[in-house]
Amino acid sequence: MDTHFIPQQAVVLLENGLQLPLGTDGRAYFNYYWLRDNCPSSFDSATRERSFDIFHLEQPPRAASADIVGDTLIISWADETHVSRYPLSMLAANTGGQQRADPADLPRKAWFSDHYPQIQRFSQPDLMQDRSLVAQWIKAMIVDGLTIVTDMPDSDQGLTDTVRLMGHVRPTFFGEYFDVKTHINPTNTAYTAKALELHTDTPAEEYAPGIQFLHCRANTVQGGLSIYSDGVAVANAFRTADPEGFRLLSEIDIPFYCEHDDYDMRSRQRVIELDQHGEVSGLTISQHMADVFDLPQDVLDSYYPAFCRFGRMLQDDRFLMRFMMKAGECMVFDNHRVVHGRLAYSATTGDRYLRGCYADRAEMRSTYRALVSEGRFRA
Ligand code: OGA
Ligand code: ZN
Repeated sequence: MDTHFIPQQAVVLLENGLQLPLGTDGRAYFNYYWLRDNCPSSFDSATRERSFDIFHLEQPPRAASADIVGDTLIISWADETHVSRYPLSMLAANTGGQQRADPADLPRKAWFSDHYPQIQRFSQPDLMQDRSLVAQWIKAMIVDGLTIVTDMPDSDQGLTDTVRLMGHVRPTFFGEYFDVKTHINPTNTAYTAKALELHTDTPAEEYAPGIQFLHCRANTVQGGLSIYSDGVAVANAFRTADPEGFRLLSEIDIPFYCEHDDYDMRSRQRVIELDQHGEVSGLTISQHMADVFDLPQDVLDSYYPAFCRFGRMLQDDRFLMRFMMKAGECMVFDNHRVVHGRLAYSATTGDRYLRGCYADRAEMRSTYRALVSEGRFRA
């Protein structure tokens, strides 16, 4: 519709809002509170925040008059000496309660056991130089949930610098960083040379960290192959193969824990997480941190078989990648989507050292939006 030729009388003032000729059926309704709150003058261009305070209006907002002039709606407010001017394009973008377009809302692309050669790889020194490459890296993280950063400096600082390209190091109850090597008094299976079954990290946190970094500093041992599966690919296949099992795993919370001398973390999580569209968005799973299931025993009659079927499916040859991490590589992956683990290794045959930490998923998406979009007030 060409909004330039709308006659002035086209705006109809109603009790709680007004109607104007916009949108697919040529009649769009806007509530007066919404209009008053979102007057372009409500926003401060320096802070980019709303500076108007609707809680302190003396009377509910009501238009005294409203006209379309060119491509602008002009409202004079009753009970206030204020005039608002709205570009019709801004109103057209809000006719149907649409959510703001989000450049970081990219569809997930499932991957399978043959994905290892195609994992998107980014050289750390190149990322440090080039913000457009950082945008490509984050895009791959959103779509695939897994990337490899190569040519990492052999230093603690190298890992911190890499995380800082997308956000901040997100601490957990055990601190900001962790060192995966054999410990003398291990507090975690990861700190032994035993196999570490497929899992997501720190499920006992109320909000498990979103992005995981595992920086390989040394790996000369026999064994210790890395194993990874895409939770989205597996859960979607599980949904088709066992709809009832899928329902149980996506609706029932189970307890997780992590307990030692001076901490006792506990949470309840769903193994399969769905997003607002009902699509699989990820997983929370860990056998070594699953607490004793406290569901009614007759519910366990159906829950346990589904849980085991799904756990075996994660390890299925269709889905499981196996590979040897090399010193200088850093696995970066979505800890709510990708399950990871390792095979057992022989600690006496060489050195194995991974340094790990986390970042926040929402902060990563924020960095992506800032890199690829123009922002709200930039010309
Ligand atoms: C971990 C982990 C993987 C490895 O520490 O949580 O998954 O390869 N380690 O040791
Ligand atoms: Zn782990």
